[in-house]
Amino acid sequence: MTSHRWDPSQYLRYGDERTRPFLDLIARVPGDARTVVDLGCGPGNDLPPLRARWPEAAIHGIDSSPDMIDRARADVADPRATFAVGDAAAWRPDGARPDVIVSNAMYQWIDRHIDLLPAAADGAAHAFAFQVPGNQDAPSHTLLATVAAEFGITDFRRVDVRDPAEYLAVLQRPGWDVDVWESTYLHVLQGPDAVFEWISGTGARPVLERLAGAEREAFIARYKAELNIAYPRRDFGTVLPFRRIFAVAVRR
Ligand SMILES: C[S@@+](CC[C@H](N)C(=O)[O-])C[C@H]1O[C@@H](n2cnc3c(N)ncnc32)[C@H](O)[C@@H]1O
Repeated sequence: MTSHRWDPSQYLRYGDERTRPFLDLIARVPGDARTVVDLGCGPGNDLPPLRARWPEAAIHGIDSSPDMIDRARADVADPRATFAVGDAAAWRPDGARPDVIVSNAMYQWIDRHIDLLPAAADGAAHAFAFQVPGNQDAPSHTLLATVAAEFGITDFRRVDVRDPAEYLAVLQRPGWDVDVWESTYLHVLQGPDAVFEWISGTGARPVLERLAGAEREAFIARYKAELNIAYPRRDFGTVLPFRRIFAVAVRR
């Protein structure tokens, strides 16, 4: 389970950019579904795309963050949607398997999740689909490590993301058709310190939550300065190239 806290409001600031890869993921899941489980559902923002894709399905969201689940329960008015706090690493169907299991931008937070994927897929009666960011080598992340080290922080939690071919290898088993691909989205972010604002809601949290007071302010100023060099603000906004990895496994 993740040990750090999530801030639903900061996370939701970039809803459109975060939803697009999820739309691209679920568009590749064929067929109908009566039951859908969303692992790492977040604050409820996955629900509208899931509802549009499977209008009749019962949708159950699971997230390890009580703050995220509280927000989902408060914001989502959908009589066929339910939410519960739970650890996706340990989650198994309680009775009948759901037709579809999806997960968007969650597995990178579970170390060695690649070992969990075959069993997770087995939990679905029809299809298992997930997306993870593949940007751990991007300047946003390498600069985070560099600046954090200047502040004596070298042991913060990093995401665990594998090569797309590794995901294909573990999911491609007899009886399954597997589709794995990657895309780099060019997000155009608005406002000052745009990349910092983006990453402070996700990847930078393990460092930010280790700092307080003047030291935290100094870290933020230093990190923002480096990000603004790596990702210059242009007339039309700040371009953040963002690579993402997708996998869809469907039973034959
Ligand atoms: C980047 S957010 C993604 C939220 C949503 N799926 C979306 O696409 O916008 C990652 C979510 O995964 C959740 N998470 C992280 N580790 C988890 C785990 N082991 N089990 C369940 N949820 C987890 C976090 O609490 C967070 O809500």
